[in-house]
Amino acid sequence: MTSAADPTAEDFANMGIDEVVIRKFVLHFYDVVHDDEILGHYFHNQMSATWDEHLDKMCNFWSAILLKTHRFNGRPMPAHTKLTGLQQSDFLHWLKTFEKSIKHCCTSEAVPHIMKKAHMIANSLQYGVFYKPEIMGSKLNLKN
Ligand code: HEM
Repeated sequence: MTSAADPTAEDFANMGIDEVVIRKFVLHFYDVVHDDEILGHYFHNQMSATWDEHLDKMCNFWSAILLKTHRFNGRPMPAHTKLTGLQQSDFLHWLKTFEKSIKHCCTSEAVPHIMKKAHMIANSLQYGVFYKPEIMGSKLNLKN
């Protein structure tokens, strides 16, 4: 793999990423999130799944992203656009918190690659959550 290439499932496996490690970082991260002042309340007050369901779903999600297992069949965008009170700073905090768990549970080789995926997904979620076409339209003077 060249440094610019997107790692394949095999590349991630060679970096020590398997289902056991994925479950480890998912449990570690959501254990922190559970008691986090900024992120915790979204899960306690607005989550439709149970914690166990959410954890299983997140293991499947990261398995699909990193190991291309196709295990995840959820819908991340509506799960976040429905949340009330979300701020862009929450996403930055999510990423910093997630990085700590990734560094704690994964090989140092895998860390930047997993974080790159997390940043890309966080960016796309933020686009869906915060994009306001009516504001864009008026700023660009598209309305008459
Ligand atoms: C401000 C940051 C974030 C908050 C507060 C947040 C909160 C939540 C909550 C409360 C749920 C449960 C929704 C429900 O079951 O009703 C959820 C689901 C989920 N989140 Fe996040 N999230 C954040 C960022 C992210 C990021 C950056 C990712 C991926 C890198 C992510 C991936 C997911 C996925 C895959 C689900 C499951 C979606 C489904 O049910 O199909 N989240 N999130």
